Amino acid sequence: MSAPKLLAISGSLRAGSYNRKLLAQAVDAFGEAEVMQADLNLPLYDGDLEDAEGIPEAVQVLADQVAAADAIVIASPEYNKGIPGVLKNALDWVSRVPGAVLADKPTVVISAAAGRTGGETAQFMVMHCLAQLQVRLIPGPQVLVAAAQNAFDDEGRLVEERNAKAVAGRMKKLRAEVT
Ligand SMILES: Cc1cc2nc3c(=O)[nH]c(=O)nc-3n(C[C@H](O)[C@H](O)[C@H](O)COP(=O)(O)O)c2cc1C
Repeated sequence: MSAPKLLAISGSLRAGSYNRKLLAQAVDAFGEAEVMQADLNLPLYDGDLEDAEGIPEAVQVLADQVAAADAIVIASPEYNKGIPGVLKNALDWVSRVPGAVLADKPTVVISAAAGRTGGETAQFMVMHCLAQLQVRLIPGPQVLVAAAQNAFDDEGRLVEERNAKAVAGRMKKLRAEVT
């Protein structure tokens, strides 16, 4: 059997993003997979742009990745107690692509943030939006990496064992959905 396809989505565009580090650890914990990295550097959703030019190429690439994926993991920061604009923008665009590509996709949402709640409010907002898109949200140990600036070592791995365990446990559950 071929390896499952895992789509990794970072809600932060920043190269040094803690959520990118968290995502990398989650991808490792998932095990052997064909990994696709999403690029959320998309135009802002604009109904006039959509009417004039249709779905932008970069959005179609993302929608095709979603359609091809057996499972999705999203790592998101929290901005002002909410979902980052780039992630919401991406979800809005993908929802405009015919075929409801996100529906029934086994998906895990995790977060790292500077604050002491580890992005919990944003994480719930992301899941709230995904529920509207009929994503299959996989529950499990919550991954809320607080004080993200202190949470990773020089190799980009989680320092605290309870965080690493939560990531491993959650990704094991995601894997069980696709194998
Ligand atoms: C506009 C903005 C708003 C933020 N709001 C919050 C917040 O509500 N809660 C929080 O814990 N951290 C907040 N932060 C800090 C982020 O958690 C921190 O910058 C984090 O490292 C961003 O994720 P990244 O490293 O993946 O880019 C905010 C940062 C920015 C830039």
